[in-house]
Amino acid sequence: MSGDKKVLFSGMQATGSLTLGNYLGALKNWVTLSDEYECFYSVVDMHSITVRQDPAELRKRARNLLTLYIAAGLDPEKNCIYYQSHVSGHAELAWILNCFTYMGELNRMTQFKDKAAKHADNINAGLYTYPVLMAADILLYQADVVPVGKDQLQHLEITRDIAQRFNGIYGDVFTIPEPYIGKVGAKIMSLQNPEKKMSKSDENPNGSIYLMDDPDTVIRKCKRAVTDSEANIAYRDEQPGIRNLIDIYCACTGKTSDETVREFEGRGYGEFKMAVGEAVVSVLKPLQARFEELSKDKGYIDSVIRANGEKAGYCAMKTLRKVHKKIGFPERIR
Ligand code: TYM
Repeated sequence: MSGDKKVLFSGMQATGSLTLGNYLGALKNWVTLSDEYECFYSVVDMHSITVRQDPAELRKRARNLLTLYIAAGLDPEKNCIYYQSHVSGHAELAWILNCFTYMGELNRMTQFKDKAAKHADNINAGLYTYPVLMAADILLYQADVVPVGKDQLQHLEITRDIAQRFNGIYGDVFTIPEPYIGKVGAKIMSLQNPEKKMSKSDENPNGSIYLMDDPDTVIRKCKRAVTDSEANIAYRDEQPGIRNLIDIYCACTGKTSDETVREFEGRGYGEFKMAVGEAVVSVLKPLQARFEELSKDKGYIDSVIRANGEKAGYCAMKTLRKVHKKIGFPERIR
């Protein structure tokens, strides 16, 4: 946004406990991409309140999530790691973009349909216009690329549509963002139901591996993972449970699915599940240790929050000024 590098934006909700899916589908790729781009990584706490939250809990989770970004390897000196709610530009641009988004488009969003079914007692307007806030997040920083898991692709599509519509009326205001989907781990499925994505909000805790799970819990969950009666370790659609475990194994070890199938040829599911569990533990252990260490350094985390919040606010204002001018808001008199 300010230099020669292309811009990257992504975010995660501070809702529930982060899962291995969040890590392998998103956070891990963020770290890989962070040298190549000018990066904005947001803790999207404004998105979280589309579902009722306990205030103290939300505040704690948001801070833990921000700390986890750093623990995962994102350097806050080089990457802008900040709270969405600290930059009012997100809400301002979201309002403007609401006026350029059709209800017909929002009606098609599968995440809205899923969440509305899950929270039938609280189908609020924020839940409905959630994708517009997400579009604002991305467009505010003129992002070229947005690394996400596969479940967010539809939201990226609508972001592009809104940006193109706006640009069609006012000229080239927004960069049109491209999604970045990792080759492995883009959709990690539940260990208890491999037809469903691994999710923070799963009622069955055995379906998800949480990033803060201890080694015994990880191994136990892997051992209990639902598979099939084929007794054959193969990477194919007919064996979704085994395929998901292969995906997890590959994403944690860097091996390919072919290599993995060869490695475990003729061996039993029990042995394979154990190896998957150990591979996950070897990824989570250093992450957890770094998180514990960072959490103790309150002053450091506070300084990151302050400096990066200001930087994000400054960059957001640049786009907002341009947008205000284009749509005809009167100039501010200083
Ligand atoms: P959220 O918080 O649900 O998930 C954060 C990231 O994790 C990815 N993810 C997964 N990847 C692989 N397998 C899974 N089982 C899995 N579950 C989650 C998600 O795709 C996401 O990349 N709406 C977003 C947050 C958001 C955002 C944004 C993202 C708000 N504004 C702007 C990008 C850009 C969300 O709820 O993600």
